Amino acid sequence: MSLSLHDVTLTYPDGDARLTALDRVSLDVPSGSITAVVGPSGSGKSSLLAVAATLITPDEGSVTVDGTDLTGLSRGQLTDLRRATVGIVFQQPNLLPSLTAAEQLQVMAHLDGRRPRTARRQALDLLDAVGLADHAGRRPHQLSGGQRQRVNVARALMNHPTVLVVDEPTSALDHERGAAVLDLIVRLTHQQATATVLVTHDRTHLTAVDQVAELQDGRLRLPRHDESARA
Ligand SMILES: Nc1ncnc2c1ncn2[C@@H]1O[C@H](COP(=O)(O)OP(=O)(O)OP(=O)(O)O)[C@@H](O)[C@H]1O
Ligand SMILES: [Mg+2]
Repeated sequence: MSLSLHDVTLTYPDGDARLTALDRVSLDVPSGSITAVVGPSGSGKSSLLAVAATLITPDEGSVTVDGTDLTGLSRGQLTDLRRATVGIVFQQPNLLPSLTAAEQLQVMAHLDGRRPRTARRQALDLLDAVGLADHAGRRPHQLSGGQRQRVNVARALMNHPTVLVVDEPTSALDHERGAAVLDLIVRLTHQQATATVLVTHDRTHLTAVDQVAELQDGRLRLPRHDESARA
């Protein structure tokens, strides 16, 4: 199992009280599979992703990433582990305006001291995998919204993550381009054997995933796959 959450509770300060964003959530995501997280606004979806991405340490419960229990790791150890094992795709691509598509990816490798030529080759391979081999030299303003989001996905895979977390990657795209980005995430999840957690509002995506997790007020329900696909 590449990603496991066990009895995770996460609270935020809320005036004098605490707001419970995740309430004893347990979830297992095997390698090479994709779990969709759905639920109303404010139900805790992004909070769940932040915990899975090791960006937030929960108040209670345990998170295991790639065989390592995160409980008790220092901030520095968490940062190292995140850099080595987690890929993150946010809703907005946040590409650097002055860099070409290939350079956006190469920057990631620079952080862990990979050789520039190796990084360049990996970047071009990944851009090829997301269908952008011919666009490696383009800067963000020369790419469409869907192409920028594909660069974003490719960039998240530069460190060969075992865990891939994706927050609503298609919300800024029309249906067709959104479906193409989702197909890509499903294909790369299988190819690269990542444990993928994907937040989505689009129920048409749910037929393509292995497991659907439904959040309601921070509590998680795992309906049977056919049941959630029908809903
Ligand atoms: N940094 C924070 N400080 C305090 N409360 C927060 C913080 N982040 C989120 N919350 C609260 O935690 C709850 C869960 O928020 P979260 O962002 O996880 O929801 P979400 O399901 O991703 O919603 P959306 O679909 O709108 O993105 C909400 O009630 C929100 O107001
Ligand atoms: Mg959110």
